[in-house]
Amino acid sequence: MQSRTLLNEFKWMLDQPPRKWLVTGVAGFIGSNLLETLLFLGQHVVGLDNFSTGSERNLADVREAVGEDRWRSFTFIQGDICNVADCSASLAGVDVVLHQAALGSVPRSIQDPITTNHANITGFLTLLTTAMHLGVRRFVYAASSSTYGDSPTLPKVEHVIGKPLSPYAVTKYVNELYADVFAKTYGMECIGLRYFNVFGRRQSPDGAYAAVIPLWFRGLLQHADIFINGDGMTSRDFCHVDNAVQANLRSALTENPDALNQVYNVACGKQASLNELYALIQCNVADHTPDATARTPTYRDFRAGDVRHSLADIGKARTLLGYEPYYTLEEGLRITAPWYISRLA
Ligand SMILES: NC(=O)c1ccc[n+]([C@@H]2O[C@H](COP(=O)([O-])OP(=O)(O)OC[C@H]3O[C@@H](n4cnc5c(N)ncnc54)[C@H](O)[C@@H]3O)[C@@H](O)[C@H]2O)c1
Repeated sequence: MQSRTLLNEFKWMLDQPPRKWLVTGVAGFIGSNLLETLLFLGQHVVGLDNFSTGSERNLADVREAVGEDRWRSFTFIQGDICNVADCSASLAGVDVVLHQAALGSVPRSIQDPITTNHANITGFLTLLTTAMHLGVRRFVYAASSSTYGDSPTLPKVEHVIGKPLSPYAVTKYVNELYADVFAKTYGMECIGLRYFNVFGRRQSPDGAYAAVIPLWFRGLLQHADIFINGDGMTSRDFCHVDNAVQANLRSALTENPDALNQVYNVACGKQASLNELYALIQCNVADHTPDATARTPTYRDFRAGDVRHSLADIGKARTLLGYEPYYTLEEGLRITAPWYISRLA
């Protein structure tokens, strides 16, 4: 179920004529959460996905959550953002784009930079250019905290970035550069959201490049090995997916001209170490799997391309978009745990 907070804040949309939205990467983690919220808010949604990392299961999960009536406002196109025809079909009549489709994961990009480049840069440019040709102006896209690269500045402020530490980070930075050029050259209204370690329901623990929170939920619930890369003191600004959905809706709907053609940190503005994160996840599954509290993780080498510490300054999103996170890491894990327990235990 969607959190009451998110739906309460935007329920005024139910009293207005619905807009038509394109969510790319709709079968993925963040995309499917955007879809669920938009359908609850009475919107018309087109979703584009090639199922490279997303799943039909995520779409089925949304369908079950929203019910058949709302589901009828959704059109799914199985296709590729690198393909002009797929982009054109998806963008017809669309008012606003929430572009999430990409190949995530720093290690994946180090293993195979060409495939990541193709999806994340060629795909981005193909979608953006098609949107421009079809007159779709508002283009909100998933950027990434990886753009801060080797900058030692903490907390991260949007205008101070370092050199990228991975091919993935290069692709996400190039997205920002293209968005900026398209805004200046073609008058588009682009907003980039630099997500910081988003987590929540439907984030998959499967595959070689799964993120740490779903992996650890699975490890504890299914009694599998758990690894921490490095000494456990690496820190991140973990952000519940409802906070990210809020940032997308605010970006899509803002009428503040100063808020357009910007990039924003999307995070909580708080840091937690991997050791702290592990302890919190242990607590959240302890009622269901009591032996989880006794489990110790295995520490192994630091991972190439990973930054040591990450913490966002969210002042810019607060000021220009009115963004305010709904959930801290602790609260976000508490509402996420039942989903993993029901799916994985
Ligand atoms: N989850 C995070 O913590 C995080 C952090 C920073 C940035 N991001 C960015 O947010 C976006 C969404 O991430 P996510 O965590 O939901 O990942 P995800 O892998 O769950 O979702 C991505 C979706 O995009 C689809 N996709 C990939 N390539 C495609 C293509 N060429 N054509 C059509 N569809 C394609 C996948 O099948 C998948 O459904 C991505 O752009 C990612 O880089 C995520």
